[in-house]
Amino acid sequence: MRIANSIKDLRLAVGEWRQNGQRVAFVPTMGNLHAGHLQLVKTAQQQADKVVVSIFVNPAQFGPNEDFASYPRTEQQDQEKLDSCGSDLLFLPSVAEVYPTPLQTQVSVKGLSTLHCGASRPGHFDGVAIVVCKLLNMVQPDLLFLGEKDFQQLAVIRTMVADLNIPVAIQGVATVREADGLAMSSRNGYLSAPERQLAPLLYQTLCLTRDAVLSGATDYQAVMDRHAQRLTDAGFLLDYFRICRSADLLPADDNDTELVLLIAAKLGKTRLIDNVRFTRG
Ligand code: PAJ
Repeated sequence: MRIANSIKDLRLAVGEWRQNGQRVAFVPTMGNLHAGHLQLVKTAQQQADKVVVSIFVNPAQFGPNEDFASYPRTEQQDQEKLDSCGSDLLFLPSVAEVYPTPLQTQVSVKGLSTLHCGASRPGHFDGVAIVVCKLLNMVQPDLLFLGEKDFQQLAVIRTMVADLNIPVAIQGVATVREADGLAMSSRNGYLSAPERQLAPLLYQTLCLTRDAVLSGATDYQAVMDRHAQRLTDAGFLLDYFRICRSADLLPADDNDTELVLLIAAKLGKTRLIDNVRFTRG
């Protein structure tokens, strides 16, 4: 696997491939790679000739009281995993390479970025949008692979790419879970042993709520309140738990059929998010 630290080296490698008519896929990450990330790489490999992975812990998407400084950085292990996965190029830029001068340009997907996680993490999705926009301009891939685990992020990036006519096809990849259902996440490592035991309740709650809706419950709020209470009783600090239309993440009513349950909750100091998408017949 080639490694590029500079945009110049990255462009040299990708330019060569594109000249040879090869299709290039891109998987942006912040590292501390787990099976969820690697599933994106494997899916990308099936659909492209070359796969570029980036590891960049993006300061612009962390709030002042968030975990930018302590975010797990495991470069050596990450490189080994990508090597054995068969990724073709690892782009590992420094903060100075990505942000050489203070930004004077904003990329902000209005509306969508202030809902749900955006309400609890002001500016977060603007930070995601600017870095993904910059990375796409650096790599210039044909295909972009993103996880459905971060459902709102996927929606924000899809909107940005459409609004700005960025010539890339986006593919969402289903959430990869631990055996007990917990969605894999770099932040799971922050959980204490008792918290880790409790954590799968988040996904169980999503599944039970989905099943209640699928079996005909129409008073969504009552179903959600009941399940939310179980989480609170177990020790979760609920941020939000909502049933939305999967297309625009706005509140769903009983006429909507393409739905997503979105949840965010804290267990101790760790903020966990998850979602389940489904179709009501
Ligand atoms: P990060 O959290 O490292 O995630 C990188 C990609 O992996 C994202 O597309 C995310 O949705 C996906 N992913 C994470 N956990 C997953 C799981 N359990 N199953 C499937 N996919 C999963 O998301 C980011 O980084 C950043 O915001 C980024 C897009 C790189 C911009 O900085």
